[in-house]
Amino acid sequence: MKLFYHSLVARFYDLTMQKVERLCLNRWRIELLSDLDGVVLEVGAGTGANLQHYSQNISRLILCEPDRSMRKKLELKLQNSPHHTAEISPCAAERLNVADNSIDHLVSTLVLCSVTDQPQSMREAFRVLKPGGKLVLMEHVAADRNSRLYFWQHLWQPLWRRAACNCHLTRQTGQLLESAGFDLHTRAEIMRGAPSVVSPMIVGYAIRP
Ligand SMILES: C[S@@+](CC[C@H](N)C(=O)[O-])C[C@H]1O[C@@H](n2cnc3c(N)ncnc32)[C@H](O)[C@@H]1O
Repeated sequence: MKLFYHSLVARFYDLTMQKVERLCLNRWRIELLSDLDGVVLEVGAGTGANLQHYSQNISRLILCEPDRSMRKKLELKLQNSPHHTAEISPCAAERLNVADNSIDHLVSTLVLCSVTDQPQSMREAFRVLKPGGKLVLMEHVAADRNSRLYFWQHLWQPLWRRAACNCHLTRQTGQLLESAGFDLHTRAEIMRGAPSVVSPMIVGYAIRP
């Protein structure tokens, strides 16, 4: 049943996201990704929404995606991409199959809300990034603690998590990255076109000192 549901999510993911991509996500992807070079590892690559934005300056591209249905869509998209030599891996963000200090840029777009263990994913990002390397981020996060939206996020969270494959609404991703030792360079944004409970975003990057 879970497998069937995940295959449905993968099949309709791009269609569901079309409006939000047009209103904001696509613009942020271009801003964050088009200048990346060196060794790039993307966690939770999904259906490959970021692929079209990577430049030819990337020497090695590793796309990690643990969900089998998403991975199939990613494989298809990769075949028709200039990056068809990119490596696809089933690794989860919590356990990446690459050496310490080996990655220039680690990309996470709409993923840290869904990982099983967020602190471990951050430790793993810290481990694999070279000193000075960047964790490139576009993530939806908890609203301000004193806001009404924060209350609604908590109320919706149990149902949302089940419906949206473990996506959490109340994660303090920015704060946790700082606690994990990253220097945070993100700005707050609003994901236009999305339900308000997922609209607070952080966009930018975190540097591994
Ligand atoms: C909302 S989708 C985002 C996909 C893509 N990054 C994008 O920007 O469109 C979340 C993705 O995170 C993946 N994911 C869930 N848990 C994960 C984990 N522990 N490690 C890595 N990826 C994970 C899901 O399989 C899914 O592909």
